[in-house]
Amino acid sequence: MPDFSNLKSKKVLVSGGAGFIGSNLCEALLQHGANVTCLDNFATGKRENIEPFFSNPEFTLIEGDIRDVETCRKACENQDFVLHQAALGSVPRSINDPITSNEVNVGGFLKMLVAAKDAGVTRFVYAASSSTYGDSESLPKVEDVIGKPLSPYAITKYVDELYADVFKRTYDFDTIGLRYFNVFGRRQDPNGAYAAVIPKFVMKLMANESPVINGGGEYSRDFTYIDNVVLMNLLALTSDNPEAQNEVYNTAFGERTTLNDLVKYLKEYLSEFDPRIADVEVKYGDYRKGDVPHSLASIDKAKILLNYNPQFSMKEGLKEAVTWYWNNLK
Ligand SMILES: NC(=O)c1ccc[n+]([C@@H]2O[C@H](COP(=O)([O-])OP(=O)(O)OC[C@H]3O[C@@H](n4cnc5c(N)ncnc54)[C@H](O)[C@@H]3O)[C@@H](O)[C@H]2O)c1
Repeated sequence: MPDFSNLKSKKVLVSGGAGFIGSNLCEALLQHGANVTCLDNFATGKRENIEPFFSNPEFTLIEGDIRDVETCRKACENQDFVLHQAALGSVPRSINDPITSNEVNVGGFLKMLVAAKDAGVTRFVYAASSSTYGDSESLPKVEDVIGKPLSPYAITKYVDELYADVFKRTYDFDTIGLRYFNVFGRRQDPNGAYAAVIPKFVMKLMANESPVINGGGEYSRDFTYIDNVVLMNLLALTSDNPEAQNEVYNTAFGERTTLNDLVKYLKEYLSEFDPRIADVEVKYGDYRKGDVPHSLASIDKAKILLNYNPQFSMKEGLKEAVTWYWNNLK
């Protein structure tokens, strides 16, 4: 683990800090001695994700909405750094309600950018997305080669990158965008219509029920364990490489796993807790609109410019995640 002692006593705002990734970022920042403010409206985040931090004097919660610029200004006041995570995730959600996804993911992003710039924040690191690669078929994905967006969600995340770029050109405001690739791990919400595939499948298997794969199971993803994502965020916040600023980075492990293999590994790891899970059959459903067939990141840019060296392979992360779900949600 690199030395993050320079985070000590830094004031960091984490928007979306009550969510899956945001709460893990809050936790890591507090461990490194930072002063953390979480801004969240609990649209999808949960109070229980951040409850353990309430007793820490270095932690502050602002309950508010990034669609309100005054809330963003209040939250950015006196902050050194911002880790902007607040957004409405999920491709299907954005297909069902593109207006709200746009209002939060684009409108809210712009308000956070303006508020952070005006408050003199020196590092603004934001959650971008691998969905920006859209219909580009080239593998592995390299940051400069993107296709056309395949969903309203993908548009919102791409527009954020365009705004960030323009804020450098027009206001000389520095940002770093992290294109996350299918992040998974502790505290990722398994419930609801828009749950991500790993927690959804874990819950099904723990209940000895069949997970349903959309399509034939040959689609693949660069599933990325949360601790690798936390590492990237901390590197982006603390990097003293001037060339690393105003760039976007793939945030992934750099290997792809098919959905069929994913289920195979989940069954293997979960059957150590309950042997019956090894016999649960998989079901197959229709392909989903907006899903890209394959996703695999090149992580060379992050390795070179940010010294990123992911610590957890997909399988190592999966074992950790499965154990967390078994101990906490079974
Ligand atoms: N999880 C992934 O695999 C993945 C992949 C690519 C990008 N991302 C991006 O990473 C970020 C975090 O995602 P996550 O998986 O932790 O999702 P999450 O839903 O757990 O976290 C998002 C957080 O933002 C908050 N939020 C939503 N709208 C808000 C608003 N208007 N004002 C204030 N807070 C608001 C939610 O309450 C929640 O706590 C998002 O920007 C998401 O688009 C995630």
